[in-house]
Amino acid sequence: MAADKNGDINLPRHIAFIMDGNGRWAKKRGLPRTAGHKEGAKTLRRLIRDIDSAGIEYATFYAFSTENWKRSDEEVSALMKLLEDNLDDLVNYENENIRLRFIGGRERLSKVLQDKMAEAERRSKDRTGLTVTLAINYGGRDDILRAAKKSAELINKGFLSPDSLTEETFESLLMTEDIPPVDLMVRTGGELRISNFLIWQSAYAELYFTDVLWCDFGKKDLDKAIGEFSKRNRRFGDAK
Ligand code: FPP
Repeated sequence: MAADKNGDINLPRHIAFIMDGNGRWAKKRGLPRTAGHKEGAKTLRRLIRDIDSAGIEYATFYAFSTENWKRSDEEVSALMKLLEDNLDDLVNYENENIRLRFIGGRERLSKVLQDKMAEAERRSKDRTGLTVTLAINYGGRDDILRAAKKSAELINKGFLSPDSLTEETFESLLMTEDIPPVDLMVRTGGELRISNFLIWQSAYAELYFTDVLWCDFGKKDLDKAIGEFSKRNRRFGDAK
């Protein structure tokens, strides 16, 4: 099914991707895991264009989780280097009018990466097209915990009362403060779980799992996921 900008099908406003299977993609070819991540970055860049052309407003990618620090030093360094190397190209998508955002704790990232992230956000902040959010050192529980700490501080300082802490107020304290809830969450690589990604924000997301490995995920697979989404009946807890 083709997804277009004319509203012919019910498009998700926000798609989140768990980009799984890079290691297996590399192993199948007798390559090191890091070669899989490198190929995965290429997939991401190709897909951003397809998502933009489909008329989707927000796309969020799980590039590095709070748990990924447990991987070997070699793999962590390779992933960090890959992020650094790709940020310049991503922000240079001038014609595509793409806005770049980041979620996740920045304090543990290198100064070079932190500076590139700030620069990418600064340079793209006024763009009005697709908002691409990269989750780096991101965990859903960490996001919620940090928002809980911020609300406790606001209450302590007398800026907020416990009764006025609504879901909307709390959402505004999450890292996704200016990003709408997830409509469709896609996980490649065959595993059937959310792995601590955007757990508050995807409370009512439609979930889509595919065995296709991230490196092999293309426009055809994107269209299939969107087509499946458009057929689902989203009730948000209502009866019909
Ligand atoms: C999971 O596959 C993938 C990751 C932990 C990293 C995802 C990162 C990228 C695709 C590169 C991102 C680059 C940019 C520019 C944002 P896995 O390693 O767990 O694969 P496996 O399950 O087959 O072992």
